Amino acid sequence: MIILNNVVLRRGTKVLLDSASVTLNPGEKVGLVGRNGAGKSTLFALLNGTLHEDGGDFSIPKQWRMAQVAQHMPETEDSATDFVVAGDTRLAEAREALAKAEALHAANPDDADAGMALGQAYSDIADAGEHDAVPRAQALIMGLGFKLHELDRPVNSFSGGWRMRLQLARALMCPSDLLLLDEPTNHLDLDALVWLEAWLQKYDGTMLVISHDREFLDAVTNVTVHIEQAKLTRYGGNYSKFEDMRALRMEQQQIAHERQQEKIAHLQKFIDRFKAKASKAKQAQSRVKALARMERVAPLLAEAEFTFSFKEPANLPNPMLSITDASFGYLQEDGSATTILSGVSRGVLAGQRIGILGANGQGKSTFVKTVAHDLPLVSGTVTEGKGLAIGYFAQQELDVLHETSNPLEHMVRLARELGSAAPAARTEQDLRGFLGSFNFSGDMVKQPVGTMSGGEKARLVLAMMVWQRPNLLLLDEPTNHLDLATREALAMALNEFEGTLMLVSHDRALLRTVCDEFWLVGRGEVRDFDGDLDDYQRYLLDESKRLREEAKQANAAEVAAAAPAPAKAVAPMASAAVTTTTASPVAASAPAAPAVDGRTQRQNDARERQRLAEQSRPLRKELASLDQRMAQANAEKSALEARLASALPPAEIAEAGKRLKQLGDEIEAMEERWLELSEALEALA
Ligand SMILES: Nc1ncnc2c1ncn2[C@@H]1O[C@H](COP(=O)(O)OP(=O)(O)OP(=O)(O)O)[C@@H](O)[C@H]1O
Ligand SMILES: [Mg+2]
Repeated sequence: MIILNNVVLRRGTKVLLDSASVTLNPGEKVGLVGRNGAGKSTLFALLNGTLHEDGGDFSIPKQWRMAQVAQHMPETEDSATDFVVAGDTRLAEAREALAKAEALHAANPDDADAGMALGQAYSDIADAGEHDAVPRAQALIMGLGFKLHELDRPVNSFSGGWRMRLQLARALMCPSDLLLLDEPTNHLDLDALVWLEAWLQKYDGTMLVISHDREFLDAVTNVTVHIEQAKLTRYGGNYSKFEDMRALRMEQQQIAHERQQEKIAHLQKFIDRFKAKASKAKQAQSRVKALARMERVAPLLAEAEFTFSFKEPANLPNPMLSITDASFGYLQEDGSATTILSGVSRGVLAGQRIGILGANGQGKSTFVKTVAHDLPLVSGTVTEGKGLAIGYFAQQELDVLHETSNPLEHMVRLARELGSAAPAARTEQDLRGFLGSFNFSGDMVKQPVGTMSGGEKARLVLAMMVWQRPNLLLLDEPTNHLDLATREALAMALNEFEGTLMLVSHDRALLRTVCDEFWLVGRGEVRDFDGDLDDYQRYLLDESKRLREEAKQANAAEVAAAAPAPAKAVAPMASAAVTTTTASPVAASAPAAPAVDGRTQRQNDARERQRLAEQSRPLRKELASLDQRMAQANAEKSALEARLASALPPAEIAEAGKRLKQLGDEIEAMEERWLELSEALEALA
């Protein structure tokens, strides 16, 4: 069992957990959710022992073996397979023990103990699954989307996203009681995502996963822990259930809060009015105390929603780009080029909103990177319109950030680099203000980027991009790391953007909302994609099947004769739904008021005043009588209180108590009425 009891956790000046408690049971699959910067990754650091609690109690079973995805980019010449096999820490330990036992035995061949130890080591390594370690690792690697011929390729030869996938495979390779996954889906495509879901559903240890992807969380978790305002709240259910329950909870809290606010407002009004009247000052006093006593339900800080917008581009060249017979790819060290896409000829016009689709590894990033000048063009030409200003959001957004610099320094550097091309905001104050509009508050503008959360870094890169006032946006997976609120803010900003957009994303909701047309990168070329995102999903699945098939065929020498696909039975058409329309009654429009002349108007006014005076008379009368009755009741109440304070025969105590309660109720009712009457009178006046 994992138990946090009143845990306090601090990072820098921030209190991330303040007296937070939660219990997680063995075997539970827990989704850890919360906004960017809420402290999710930091909580993992507590669980894996890199951080310690600053207060309260935290406990986790000592004997538990923990597996987690290393967050750094692996740098090694080891093959993908070896790298992943090494993730099996139990096997690694057994291998080490065996090597030691062998050495010991070799040095003392006649020693019986050494012989015994060697025997034990052999048996341990068998238990640790030495015999099938390689196929186990390779199944993981392939499951995450690698191709057969890549199994033996050195880790270093893969791109960043793929190396992070290997880190994930390595974590899954490790037999564990507790699995910690921090945003495991960020580097995956749809295919690998589905595979990972299936794998995790079979995992039988305790799992904690951080993710901003609702569908993924729903598929793999049955408990949700929410970090909010430095507290942990546990919900029994997956993410959708959590949202429902939370909505309900917020509603209830909101209702309780509103009721209390009403009551507070009522008391306050009473106090204000009565304070004005010297004679009622005492009554007001007791209400002041009541108000102070009243415990206020924490108002739901309606989570300050974050929005931003792109500035209107200074100009819109048209066309933005013309690409003629171009090839895209990588230049090798020896100067030779590896071409991934070729024969690309297309134009990009002002105001186009292009979603760039394609399976992973097909060259989407290469294409975008080249357009952004991050990679040289292999051949052909790309002509840019006059005044083109590119805003590029790289998939590895960390690459453009300096770990030791803070957001303000980043902005200053950017302003300096842009020189005269920079927008008007130049002073530190301007830059701070600008960062503030991206939710980087006073403290955070000075926080080194290296200590910021993933979502915060991504937000900074967005801010830097917006500041440059681009007219062509090249966004490569911009939503990785972003929480749902920030994703929505981005979608809104992109929708209002007047320039041209080229977007690579696996976030289907975003593609749907902001793109009008799609380009497909695959099979070595870039072409238009005729269809919508559902068609695309089908295409992806077909494509990955095709690629796997290709790999299989390339590997197995014999080519299996392709079996003809069985003809699908066509389901009978569903009977047409019957729709009934009910004629809605036509609302009768109110007749127009007849015109009124001046004299009639005056007469009307006089009558109205008369009517008001008549109406207010009984009110004033009642108010006067109420004043009197309230004074009496209050006097009786004080007397009763005094009697109760002195020694009273038990029989009378009960009676007096009852009367006191009755008086209290009466007084309250009278006060209520008093307020109503004064208000009504005010309204009449
Ligand atoms: N060493 C540090 N010094 C100061 N602040 C820090 C430090 N480490 C983390 N923080 C801050 O603590 C907060 C929590 O960070 P954490 O990485 O746990 O967030 P998170 O919930 O994982 O967010 P995300 O969804 O963006 O990944 C962030 O605001 C971060 O800037
Ligand atoms: Mg995080």
